[in-house]
Amino acid sequence: MIQLSNGHSFEFMAASGALGFDGQGWPWEQPLRLVGLFKPELFTVVVKSLTLKPRKGNLLWYNPLRCVRLISDGVVNAVGLTNPGIDWWIKEMYPRVVVGELNVVASIAGESLQENMEMALKLKSCDKIKGLEINASCPNSPGELQSSNQAVIDTAQALKYVTKWPLIVKLSCVHDYVKIAKALEGTVEAISINSVPWTTMFEGKKSSLERFGGGAVSGKRAQAYTWKMVSELAQSTSIPVIGASVWEYQDIGKLFDMGAKAVAFGSIFLRYPWRPTHFVKRWLSIHRKTR
Ligand SMILES: Cc1cc2nc3c(=O)[nH]c(=O)nc-3n(C[C@H](O)[C@H](O)[C@H](O)COP(=O)(O)O)c2cc1C
Repeated sequence: MIQLSNGHSFEFMAASGALGFDGQGWPWEQPLRLVGLFKPELFTVVVKSLTLKPRKGNLLWYNPLRCVRLISDGVVNAVGLTNPGIDWWIKEMYPRVVVGELNVVASIAGESLQENMEMALKLKSCDKIKGLEINASCPNSPGELQSSNQAVIDTAQALKYVTKWPLIVKLSCVHDYVKIAKALEGTVEAISINSVPWTTMFEGKKSSLERFGGGAVSGKRAQAYTWKMVSELAQSTSIPVIGASVWEYQDIGKLFDMGAKAVAFGSIFLRYPWRPTHFVKRWLSIHRKTR
């Protein structure tokens, strides 16, 4: 369980991108909701990352498979932060968050410290959000945070001064994540984990999303990288770590045993949208009384 300074606590999270911009899930998930197989209210939901200005990215809503490939044990994506921008989110999506009564965390992916500051300030009036995730690791987009550990540290430290939200920083295996975590103790309240750049996992091997830079790998296929991060971070920092890449029910227990304090469901929502709800219900029915 992760206890944030504003009193919100959570054990299960829906990772950014999994449940859309309002946390209620993508259209194709709604039929499952009607029959109880999909319940966003079981999760603290990180909404899809926002940029300061609208970003075209690579996603065409009428042809998502252009930049998202479902593979047997994961997902390769090169969405590239397609989103209509933070002003749109505050105007059109935040009211839905208020009505929906979900526990929602906003995710910002500014290209620089200044952009992230500007976005955090814009969110000031969004009282119902539970936290702010700094997406410092989008593998398919430009930005100094992806390539500079110091930029991540500086950004989180600066945001701490301008925002009241508990901060979560989202890192990837290409960062010096232990160094960042140590520098951000007392600044961020949790660390989440992003997908693995194709070029890191399959150096020299052609990706089916080559024309978008290769994309990034998530899900079971990414576990060797994301779970290494979980255990190394859990051993080296006091900041609670949110585990990633759950694929089977047993993965939840494995992540907690590795030292994760909460677990996020990401691409499993795309591959098997009913599984996270089923897994969480099962976990709570067994552990609610004992944990
Ligand atoms: C199609 C798709 C879109 C994603 N969009 C975002 C995003 O907007 N912001 C973000 O921080 N992470 C995004 N992610 C990364 C996930 O939130 C998650 O961190 C990553 O997939 C690793 O977790 P997993 O192995 O459990 O899927 C996206 C992942 C996928 C597959």
